Amino acid sequence: MKKIAVFASGNGSNFQALVEAEKTGVLGAKISLLICDQPEAYVLKRASAERIPFLCVSPKCYSSKVAYEQALLEQLNRENIDFILLAGYMRLIGATLLQAYPRRIINIHPSLLPAFPGKDAVDQAVNAGVKVTGLTVHYVDEGMDTGQIIAQRAVEIETGDTRESIQKRIQLAEHQVYPAVVQQLLHDCINLNLEGSK
Ligand code: GAR
Repeated sequence: MKKIAVFASGNGSNFQALVEAEKTGVLGAKISLLICDQPEAYVLKRASAERIPFLCVSPKCYSSKVAYEQALLEQLNRENIDFILLAGYMRLIGATLLQAYPRRIINIHPSLLPAFPGKDAVDQAVNAGVKVTGLTVHYVDEGMDTGQIIAQRAVEIETGDTRESIQKRIQLAEHQVYPAVVQQLLHDCINLNLEGSK
């Protein structure tokens, strides 16, 4: 069974959704490690409650991004991790991890990329006045939410919606879509045309 490390920085509702999907057998993979860069993040409590090994590593403790990622890589190698899933990990992945895990680092983002990349994607959608936003699952590359798109789901913005209500609907969709897409990817059920892709 493939082994997964989840990287997260905050609440961890997507981490929890992946854990639940593992428990019910939907994921078809084992979440073996949580890596977090924020000591106060609630996701650490979730990992502890689920008895999933976790590691809180602050980049501030390292002289460079390369040194930070090398330290993470040692842990990933120690656990024989096959795939990395970013779930609200608010940091760009650097060359060290990208080279070690080619096309094996996946991210979920709360917009229909390439619209509204980066932080505060829901605020960006609200400010732009769009009537449809959504979520994207994509491969991670060196850019900010620029990697090849794997799957998307649209979420309509309705009259009377607030930033909070939109975010809630997107997250509910994320909790369904992310585990399902990961399951398909891990079991080679998604066949992306790699020709010409980045
Ligand atoms: C999720 O909505 C995820 O799409 C977003 O952060 C949230 C984390 O929520 N990620 C990004 O914005 C990445 N650019 P969670 O901690 O409850 O899973």
